[in-house]
Amino acid sequence: MCGIVGIASHKEFPSRFLLERLKRMEYRGYDSYGFYDSHELKKFVGNIVIAGDGATRTGIAHTRWATHGGVTERNAHPHVSCDGRVIIVHNGIIENFEEIKKKLVRKGHRFTSETDSEVIAHFFEEGLKSKPIQAIIPEFIRTFAGTFAVLIMVEGSDEIYAVKRDSPLVLGVMNGMNMVASDIYGFSDLTNKAAFFENDEFAVISKDGYRFFDRRGKPVDKPLWKFVWEQVSSQKKAFKHYMLKEILEEPETVERMLFSLDHDQKAGFDKLIRLIRNSKKIIFASCGTSYHASLLGAYFLHRVGVETQALIASEFRHFANIDRDTLIIALSQSGETMDVIDALKYAHERRGRIAGVVNVPYSTIQRMSELSLNILAGQEVCVASTKAFVNQAALLLRIAQEFGFHVNLANLADRIRSLLRKREEIRRIAEKVAASRDVYVIGRGLTYPVAREIALKIKEISYIHAEGMMGGELKHGTIALIEDGTPVISLINNNDPDIISNTKEVEARGAKAIIITNNPTLARRPDAISIRTDNDGKFGILAAIAGQLIAYYAADKLGRPIDKPRNLAKSVTVK
Ligand code: AGP
Repeated sequence: MCGIVGIASHKEFPSRFLLERLKRMEYRGYDSYGFYDSHELKKFVGNIVIAGDGATRTGIAHTRWATHGGVTERNAHPHVSCDGRVIIVHNGIIENFEEIKKKLVRKGHRFTSETDSEVIAHFFEEGLKSKPIQAIIPEFIRTFAGTFAVLIMVEGSDEIYAVKRDSPLVLGVMNGMNMVASDIYGFSDLTNKAAFFENDEFAVISKDGYRFFDRRGKPVDKPLWKFVWEQVSSQKKAFKHYMLKEILEEPETVERMLFSLDHDQKAGFDKLIRLIRNSKKIIFASCGTSYHASLLGAYFLHRVGVETQALIASEFRHFANIDRDTLIIALSQSGETMDVIDALKYAHERRGRIAGVVNVPYSTIQRMSELSLNILAGQEVCVASTKAFVNQAALLLRIAQEFGFHVNLANLADRIRSLLRKREEIRRIAEKVAASRDVYVIGRGLTYPVAREIALKIKEISYIHAEGMMGGELKHGTIALIEDGTPVISLINNNDPDIISNTKEVEARGAKAIIITNNPTLARRPDAISIRTDNDGKFGILAAIAGQLIAYYAADKLGRPIDKPRNLAKSVTVK
């Protein structure tokens, strides 16, 4: 996943403005970046540093998450043609780049990077020898296989050519300026007017306006949408990291989302409930943290008799039987996860019905869904998903409530607030986790997905090996790895005898048990985090938040680059 931005403006703007816009999409990719502003092309390895005073009226920029070729200045975008006249940025994967590259090399083109993207610049350079750029784009769409959102500039022109297939791209329209970006975060603070690209459409964007075309180059009448976007500050301000800022926002964001389900999103919510009632089968499709929220949702619904399955989207086609009575609920923070999009295409071909639950409005998944709810968590800048998980899980709990799950959601935000007040206590426990090489997290029933989620956060942010598993599975092998002092985080809901017995099993082998519990007696033990609720639905959500804090503080103790894990810190300027 990468982020791209292009700006065409009546008034001159400094190139730092281009980078400010790019910074808003840094969560999409953050190992290297670069820009072209009609005068100069610059590439850097590392974090986006907002600098540069060059003035321009047109420019394109790219923030990269390496797929083809290592993290180097050469592989960073923009890429240019041999004659330096065609400059491109690309998000996606060109599947047949090797084949196209061979043909271009035979024609004398010289490649300087290891990327799949560079071939685009040479392809357009070759085409421009005999035709205008607008005639080459339909040929590009026919020739190139894979996924792409591409922005192209030609030296001497103040137009940006934008083309898309299966990678997100949206145009923001404002006074005297048109901006194209991977998602509306690129400009959602400047305008609420946007036009969305469909697959194999392209647009010519200039300071004066924009024109859309279909795959054959026939003009398309493009509607302009007015979007509603919940403004949550994306500024880190006093917080050491975005991750902490976003965890601390959870009470407000969950309150806002629950309120909205009973008010402005009520019609959509009621429709989703009807869809669930009328479907023979419910299948969640999601990845990573969103999958863990889905698994929790499947548990909630299963408890109230709604047969539900949660599938990891990349495996969806291997495990899902879809027909017109199947409802697929796609859960995704970004709304752009390719594995989920592929699963939805598969479901769509088999006439399954699709509901989306996303955080980014107007995202691809939202637009692929016949019905979509927004979790309203606001922008998640940190790569680790935290407040989005809480809102996803709370939304699914609210759905289960409609089917008879007993829970009082009115005090969920307050319960989260009181847990967040214990963060110094949690920090001390997390520092013990930071001293370990391996951590195990065990749960049963509804705490199993939470165990998986806590382990994912620990791995992603602190780089400590962590495994989240069902307590019952320990004795079938993993227990062999428990040694003196190995931390085992045990999620104990009320008096659950099975997980209490699993905790004793690991302690008998020397494990250092860290207990997250709502059981008042167990909460008095050393290294216990006490959760105030006797409702198991809320316990699942609150235990996950305690885990987010453990992961955060362990990573902080270890000095990890929390907001952008595994990032390269060094910034290098090249010509
Ligand atoms: C979570 O911390 C991760 N960054 C990752 O697992 C993420 O949840 C996953 O890639 C799915 O993303 P989505 O919710 O945007 O679809």
